[in-house]
Order: sequence, then C-alpha cells, then structure tokens
Amino acid sequence: MSDKKKPGPDDSGVGHVRNFAIIAHVDHGKSTLADRFIELCGGLRKSQMNEQVLDSMDLERERGITIKAQAVTLNFESQQGPCKLNLIDTPGHVDFGYEVSRSLFACEGVLLVIDAAQGVEAQSVANCYAALEQDLHVIPVLNKIDLPSADPETVCGQVEDMIGIDASDALRVSAKTGEGVRELLEAVVERIPPPAGVADDPLRALIIDSSFDNYAGVVSLERVVDGCLERDMDIRPMATAVGKTYQVEDLGVYTPIKTSRDRLRAGDVGYVVAGVKDIRVARVGDTFTSARESDIEPLPGFKATTPYVFAGVYPVKSEEHRVLHTALDKLALNDASLSYDPESSHALGPGFRCGFLGLLHMEIVRERLEREYGLELITTAPTVTYKVLHASGEESVLSNPGDLPSRRELASIMEPMISTSIFAPESCVGDIIGLCQEKRGTRTAMNYSGGQVALKFEMPLNEVVYDFFDKLKSVSHGYASFDYEFAGYRDAPLARLDMLINGERVDALSSIVHREKLARTGRALAERMQGLIPRQLFDIAIPAVSDSRVIARTTVKALRKNVTAKCYGGDVTRKRKLLEKQKAGKKRMKMLGRVEVPQEAFFVMLRGDSSR
Ligand code: GTP
Repeated sequence: MSDKKKPGPDDSGVGHVRNFAIIAHVDHGKSTLADRFIELCGGLRKSQMNEQVLDSMDLERERGITIKAQAVTLNFESQQGPCKLNLIDTPGHVDFGYEVSRSLFACEGVLLVIDAAQGVEAQSVANCYAALEQDLHVIPVLNKIDLPSADPETVCGQVEDMIGIDASDALRVSAKTGEGVRELLEAVVERIPPPAGVADDPLRALIIDSSFDNYAGVVSLERVVDGCLERDMDIRPMATAVGKTYQVEDLGVYTPIKTSRDRLRAGDVGYVVAGVKDIRVARVGDTFTSARESDIEPLPGFKATTPYVFAGVYPVKSEEHRVLHTALDKLALNDASLSYDPESSHALGPGFRCGFLGLLHMEIVRERLEREYGLELITTAPTVTYKVLHASGEESVLSNPGDLPSRRELASIMEPMISTSIFAPESCVGDIIGLCQEKRGTRTAMNYSGGQVALKFEMPLNEVVYDFFDKLKSVSHGYASFDYEFAGYRDAPLARLDMLINGERVDALSSIVHREKLARTGRALAERMQGLIPRQLFDIAIPAVSDSRVIARTTVKALRKNVTAKCYGGDVTRKRKLLEKQKAGKKRMKMLGRVEVPQEAFFVMLRGDSSR
C-alpha cells in the first residue's frame, strides 16, 4: 500500500494502529502463534506466560480449544516505528463461526494460519471467505514448518486451488520455535491498512462482545469506530434502553492483562464498564454514542444467527428453574449465538428449549451452565427445526419433536438441508461418499488438489446432528474436516417416533425419523433404553411407537434381590460403599412416574449406531 500513512512514534492518529484477527482451522496453531506475539511484544513477562495464554477459560484449557474470541493490545517496535497491534484470537471449530464473524468486524486484516503438515481444511476455507466478504486483507501464513512432515510448497498450491487467493507471498513460521514470527508481525504492519475512523468525529463504538461481572455489571468489548471514548463521559446505547445514559466508570485494553486507560480512540479495541446492571441493555451488535449527540447513524451491527440444533434443558431439581433462567440470561450476554425460550415438558417439568449452532456448542453451553452457575441439568437429545403444514392449512415451525401432530392432522413436513464441504486425503474418498449417501446426502461437487480432495454434499441436517462427525473422523482416520451452511427446507417423508416408559409417553424422548428408517431406529432405541434404565422393583415395558403402532418393545426385568442382601452379616463398610455408589448413580436421575431414568437415557439418540 503505497499511500498508507507510515506509523511513527509521535503519531496521535490511527496510522500506527493495526487491527487484525488470526483465523484457522481447529488446531492449526492460532493460540500458540498469539502466545509468540505476546512474548515478542512483551505483553507478559516470561514467568507469566503459560501455553495458549488467550484460552483463559478452564474449559478451553481442558479441551485444548478456543471457545471465545479474545482481544489483546500489543506494542510492537516495527522497522517503521512503534505500532499498536490489536490482535483477536478466534475459535476454529465450525460451531463458533459466529464468534469469528463478529471478531472480523473489529479488524482490517486477518492472518489465515494453515498447518503446513495438514494442508487446507474446511474451516480454513470458510473463515477465509468470511474475511473476504468483509473486504479484509488476508495474509496467508504456513505454520508448523518445524515439523518434518511440513510441505509448504504443496500447501501453497492448495491455498491457491481450493481457496482461490494468491499464496506466493505466504509467510512461513513455526509458532512453536518462534521462527519467522517477527517477520510476520512486520508483514502485518506493512500489508494491513490502518483503521479508517476519525478521532474528532462524534463517538460511535460497536459492542463486539459482552460479559457480566457481579460487581461491575456489564463489561463490553468495543471497537471504537469514530470519535473517542473517555473515562467519566456519558454514553448511551442506540438500540436498547433508548433515552437512558450511562457514565463510563472504567475503560482500557487487555495486554492481555486487563489494563485501565483514560481513553480509547477511533480504531482502538478495548473494554468498557459503564455501570450497566441490566443485562438486556447494550447487547452485542449495539452502538454506543455520546449522550450529547442526537443525530447519529448507528453502526450496522451483526447479522442475527440462526440456531441449527435445539434441545430441552431442564434443572434436575424443578425449584432451580429461576436460577437456570438467570444463568441463561447471563450466559447469552457472553454467547450471542445462544437462544432460549421457556418450555414445559410433561415428563421433566419447566425448562427451556435452547437453540445452538451445533453439538459442540450445545455441550459447551451445558458445561458452562453447570460449572459457572452450579446447576445440575438434564438435557434432551438434540433436534433440528421442521416446517409443518397442518391438514387445516395452517403452517408452523417446530423445534420439539414431541409437538409433531399425528399423521391425520398433518399435510406435509419439511426438513432443513445443509450444504456441506468436506476436505480429506484422496485415499478415503470412497468411504466418505458411502457415509454421506447412507445419511441421505447428494454429491454436488468434487475437486482434487495436492493429495487433498474437497467434496460438497447436500444433506438433511437431521442426519448430521447425531453421529455424522464421529463417523466421518473414523472413516478418514481423523483426517477429514467438515463445514456446513444452511441450504433451505425440503419436503421429506418423516414421522414421529415416541418412546413409552411404563405405559406413559415421555415427550422428551420423542424424535422425528425418516419413514424408511423408522423400524430400525425404533428397535435400536428400545434396546438401548433397556440397557440404560436401571432395574427397579417391577417390570418396566419400553415400547417404541409411531402413528399408534408399536414398532418395537423391550422390558427391563424387575429387580428380585435386595442389592445389599449379600452383605448381611458381612463387613458393614462394604454395604455402606454399595449404598453410596447407588446414591451417586441416582444423582442425575429423573423420576418419570414411578420409574427413575438416568440422564444418558435422554441422549439415547446420540449413541452412535448404524441404524440412523
Ligand atoms: P483451536 O483453539 O482449538 O482452534 O486451536 P488453535 O488453532 O488455537 O491451535 P493451538 O495453538 O491450540 O495448537 C494446536 C497444537 O499444535 C498444540 O499442541 C500446539 O503445541 C501445536 N503447535 C502450534 N504451532 C506449532 C508449530 O509451529 N509447530 C509444532 N510442531 N506444533 C505447533
């Protein structure tokens, strides 16, 4: 960029600022690269560094994945002078794509990090397109060049063939050894343009993320697009709480340590605390402006997300319903892609139907609710939304299979379709095609490059939410990657499959199944339920029923012996241990009528099985 303003030490404008994100497929090394940047720029002392500093949540460290995007401001002594780098580390998994797209709003450029030993994968492509859509400058980076299996030449070819961007000037680095990292930061300063905002214009700051702190209230991460945010100034959100103003109590940046500043100027990314205690105010995507300004155009904000997967979330103890409601309110502030509506199940009592972007997202939300809010939850099997045309002519959208009307009341039902991109080594193409066809998929494209193949399939989302990903990993020996986007609704011959326990329909166990697979699935579910429900003092019949017809039936035989009987006369500690074990097992049980049902039973659909 020849007309770019050169950064310099005295620069009070935005010429010395660079806002950029790191995007990549899972495990290609984003967080490790961010560690090297922080180290090189002196953001933390050596003693404060541990691996993947920006993955600060316990859950992120345990699973080794990034869930939340993290922003950090670094001071870099470039060859052109001192620079301020605002770096955002983003998650790589498809379920957190929304985090990525929001982070990109705060940037002018991205580093597209690709593992030089693995090659281009599905999320490399999806995230790169998201960046190009927002007109961001993309710098391709080949990471892990220290590995003997790294093949940067071939991977450069894949970037050009499969993503379609020029990779001749791709940088080669090792985030592990630090090789090439300084050159990479020089390239960031050189190639990524500074932000365009004007510090003297009226304030417009976009909220890109929020969290709730019990003392400070809402802490929002903001990108100041125009103007200047200062301590003690009065600001107002433009979309919510219209007419209300808030005073900025604290603001600053993450270095990555939270560090207070007096002001954030156009182009800066930092946190703001303004005494907002109501979590419905100042939501992600809203614009803050100065309370003094009246004629201001709000920033466009973000596209609303559409959840793809739904599940019922219920407290094990019904009296914790309110606590769950508050927890969801707070969590949704930090996770804008989570949706939730109250629902009541005949079997499980009051709870919520939550919408997620995928199965990993669902798992993470559940774990966060349990860990961060001390709740004990039962979640039902995930399902997707269907469009239903009733015989009466009325149309409805349905996310709870238990609500599907009987065949007589139904004119047609449409299921959501997705367009999937699968990247895998050439050697497993045959198995992948077989798997996708078994899941009712139709192939739409196939493209070979450098030993990799990119496949596209149209598939029902319903077939993917259960065990597709596990099976894909297994047929490709872990090498396939997968990404998908929504591709509309299509008519399909589907029916509701109910499970009865001891004569009572358990609405939380109903599912919607393709008619051809009804018999197989019914049999498999009844058998698996039989293995999951503990024996009790009476026989428990478990029939699978569809359209008032019993498709399969199993029975859990009554328990005849007292479990502790064999301990009579023996060692009392053994008996106590047995009872303790029984008590622990009961923890996550739900009473359905007279029958105790464990949490796993509600996940019976998820257990991998060829019948689905
Ligand atoms: P997500 O946060 O899950 O999206 O992953 P990520 O892209 O942030 O990857 P992360 O930094 O967690 O690295 C994944 C693994 O690759 C870790 O075990 C790193 O130690 C390793 N790794 C990262 N960069 C390099 C590198 O340059 N060379 C080698 N040999 N290993 C690396």
